[in-house]
This record gives sequence, C-alpha cells and structure tokens, in this order.
Amino acid sequence: GKVRAPTHIVSTICDDRGEEPTYAGVPMSTIIEKDYGVGDVISLLWFKRSLPRYCTKFIEMCVMLCADHGPAVSGAHNTIVTARAGKDLVSSLVSGLLTIGPRFGGAIDDAARYFKEAHDKGLTPYDFVESMKKKGIRVPGIGHRIKSRDNRDKRVELLQKYARTQFPNVKYMEYAVTVETYTLSKANNLVLNVDGCIGSLFLDLLSSCAMFTPQEIDEIIEIGYLNGLFVLARSIGLIGHTFDQKRLKQPLYRHPWEDVLYTKYT
Ligand code: ACO
Ligand code: LMR
Repeated sequence: GKVRAPTHIVSTICDDRGEEPTYAGVPMSTIIEKDYGVGDVISLLWFKRSLPRYCTKFIEMCVMLCADHGPAVSGAHNTIVTARAGKDLVSSLVSGLLTIGPRFGGAIDDAARYFKEAHDKGLTPYDFVESMKKKGIRVPGIGHRIKSRDNRDKRVELLQKYARTQFPNVKYMEYAVTVETYTLSKANNLVLNVDGCIGSLFLDLLSSCAMFTPQEIDEIIEIGYLNGLFVLARSIGLIGHTFDQKRLKQPLYRHPWEDVLYTKYT
C-alpha cells in the first residue's frame, strides 16, 4: 500500500491546495457570494466553524469598538513614539501591540477564566473579590484609569445592550455586573471594563449558542483565544496612529525633563 511520509507541520484551519483556498472547508467564493463578514472569517479561522449571525455580529462589534481609544493609552503611545523615531509600519505596530497584557487590553482571557470559575462554583461577589484580594490578584476585567461609576465606558454599555437583546443567555455577564456592584462599593473606578465585559460575554456566547462542547469551551479559555480580539481590533488603530504620525511629519519624541522626577532611592 501507499506509505505516507511523516510531515513536519500539521494544519487544520485553511487549505490553499485546490482551485481556491478554503477557510475551515468554506471556499473563498462562498465567503464572497454569501456576503460573509469579518466576524464569519474569524469564526472559521479561529473557531473552525460557522457561527450564527448574532455571534459574528458580536465579534465584529468587539473589533470595531476596541479599534482605538485615543493617542494617550499605552499601545498608541508606544506606536507614536516608535513612528516618530523613524521606524517602519511593522515596527511601530508591534511596539504598540507589545503593551497589550494583563493591565492593558490583555485581561480578557483572565477575566473569562476567573469569572467562569467563580460563577460556576457559586461564589458570591463578596467571596470572589475578597478571595482574590487575599491572593494579591487584581480582579481581571475590573477597574479603569479614567472610566468610573459616573463616567461609564460606552463600549461596555453598547456590548451589554446588544447581548441582553440578542443572546439566549447572559448569565456570566450578569455575574460580572454583580461583581462590579460590589467593587464599586469599594472605589468609584472599579467598574466592569471593556476587557471584563468581552470576557464575560464571550463565555455567554460560547455556552449558549449550542455550537461548542464544554470541553471545547474549556480549551478556548485555557489556550486563551480572547485576547486575540483586542490584539486584532487595536491593530487597526495602531496602524492609523502610525500613518498619522508619518503624515504629520512628527519629529523624534523626547520626553520632557520637567515631567521626570530625578531622584535617588534611599
Ligand atoms: N481588582 C481589585 N482591586 C483593584 C483593581 C482590580 N482589578 N484595580 C484597582 N484596584 C484597587 C487596588 O486596591 C489598587 O491598589 P493596589 O495598587 O495596591 O493593588 C487600587 O485600586 C488603586 O488602583 P488605581 O491606581 O486606581 O488603578 P490603576 O488606574 O492603576 O489601574 C487598571 C487601572 C490597570 C486597569 C487596574 O484597575 C487593573 O489592574 N485592572 C485589572 C486588569 C484589567 O482589567 N485591565 C484591563 C483594563 S481595560 C483596557 O485596558 C482596554
Ligand atoms: C483602551 O481601550 O485603550 C482603554 O480602555 C485603556 C485606557 O487607558 O483608556
């Protein structure tokens, strides 16, 4: 019989060998003819399946709403400084992307992990938040530098409104809101932030759309797919900031001495 030579790479999401490439088995012509959107393409290449329209629209909303948040945030600041140092597009982009992590934009996976565990164990918000405090871990998905009880994050409101009307179930998001109610009793800026909102709503999407087994959901959370949404989204804005700086012919950035406290640690 035929002997299959062992391969060095295994790949399961895309095949470019036929007449036309396929994403998770769906030919590109179908993607165009059926008017698929970027949410469908993300579903195929990340989750290896077509998801219902309310899910792909939610994914698209996350990408659109997280595309940018002004020039002052960590990612844009790095990108702007790099572009002004004369670096190319890719360098400026990745310099900004490298700031995405547990404090900035990259708390979505951990928010999903901790909210899921706390919800499924039936922890009260008090027990959950206080147990995190005892472990010295800030609750991922809670807190913001400029957003607060009286200056809510519009992105969070828009995503919540959409999910409350379109998702079959929003139990994880509602749990996150009860956590927010408790953390707001401690400080005004301890709101459910956009990372926490996306993390909890993605748990709702995965668990209520009947397209994923519990094992697949655990794998998605364990591997950490969800920060990918912020990385993808913010790339749009960071590329925009790079072009903006180049267009404006901005000179090398040097931070002003007056804004540095030069001191000696004792
Ligand atoms: N959980 C519990 N307590 C918190 C949290 C939190 N998530 N955030 C702040 N606090 C409390 C702590 O007591 C903190 O004191 P500590 O430094 O001793 O831990 C105190 O508030 C002071 O915090 P602030 O200075 O007001 O917060 P800061 O503005 O420095 O941080 C930040 C904002 C980084 C977002 C913070 O709230 C945090 O780490 N949150 C968790 C990570 C997260 O969700 N990041 C995503 C933000 S949204 C985005 O980037 C798109
Ligand atoms: C963002 O999306 O970049 C922000 O939520 C972070 C910030 O500091 O405003």
